[in-house]
Amino acid sequence: LLLPLGAAVAQDYPTRPITMLVPFAAGGPTDTIARLTAAGMAKSLGQQVIVENATGAGGTIGTTRAARAQPDGYTLLIHHVGISTAATLYRNLSYDTKTAFAPIGLVTNAPMTIIARPDFPANTLKELVAYAQQQGDKLTYANAGLGAASHLCGMLFMTAIQKQLTTVPYKGNGPIMNDLLGKQIDLTCDQATNTTGPITAKQVKAYAITTKERLKSLPDLPTADEAGLKGFELGVWHGIYAPKGTSPAVVQKLTAALQTALKDPVLIARFNDINTEPVPQDKATPEALGAMLTSEIDRWAPIIKAAGQYAD
Ligand code: MLT
Repeated sequence: LLLPLGAAVAQDYPTRPITMLVPFAAGGPTDTIARLTAAGMAKSLGQQVIVENATGAGGTIGTTRAARAQPDGYTLLIHHVGISTAATLYRNLSYDTKTAFAPIGLVTNAPMTIIARPDFPANTLKELVAYAQQQGDKLTYANAGLGAASHLCGMLFMTAIQKQLTTVPYKGNGPIMNDLLGKQIDLTCDQATNTTGPITAKQVKAYAITTKERLKSLPDLPTADEAGLKGFELGVWHGIYAPKGTSPAVVQKLTAALQTALKDPVLIARFNDINTEPVPQDKATPEALGAMLTSEIDRWAPIIKAAGQYAD
């Protein structure tokens, strides 16, 4: 049987380890989700899926690398809502976010928490808002660069309280958490996947969760909406992408591996431990991620334009 070359290659795929680029620092929420998902996908692909942190510029350095990679299925990107905000925040991106990728599927949707260093004076969200309005740029707010989820959450917070705080950029919430625990910065927003441990251990002060409902595992933490920031809601959806031009057969194998990983009881338990869950199977598809990406780029564009913050 003679198969066209591409089909034969896709049939054997993968024959060597796959790299999954994480556009933020090791030890942060994206990195954690990536490592759990990569390990799960590796099981059914029969090859290692190696996580590589390609950090900087709010995730756009790693995203650029993925967009420019060979579309052979050996370089993937895991990214979150920030890929859609960066599309507007950065006016000089070398790729068109809507068309540069072959989506593989959604992975999870993690809530964010608004947190502060352990000795920060405010004890409730109302107190935090009053204090931040009074102190303004004397307070430091850490984010993982323009285009990070922590940037988006901070932008919504500062818009809501009508006060700019001093922004301190990092390469990810991993290093931000270290400096928050070390009391070197005042505030940040970070995904519950990274903060549940420190919040429960009272190593940081937590003011609110950005979901509609409280989380079962953090029952005392109010939603931002109920604590006074009406309508403040932010979910950090994550997806996996291959570069545009990846063959449909390879995309199908990767999607199947993602779906298998997300049904694995071990992965589900690990996700639950860090306060999240895998998306339902029908969301772990190229169609669902492609639709999410397009609609989120369109949803955030006017909000970012109104806030007037650009990376260039
Ligand atoms: C991270 O993994 O460090 C975060 O997702 C960064 C962010 O987007 O805030």
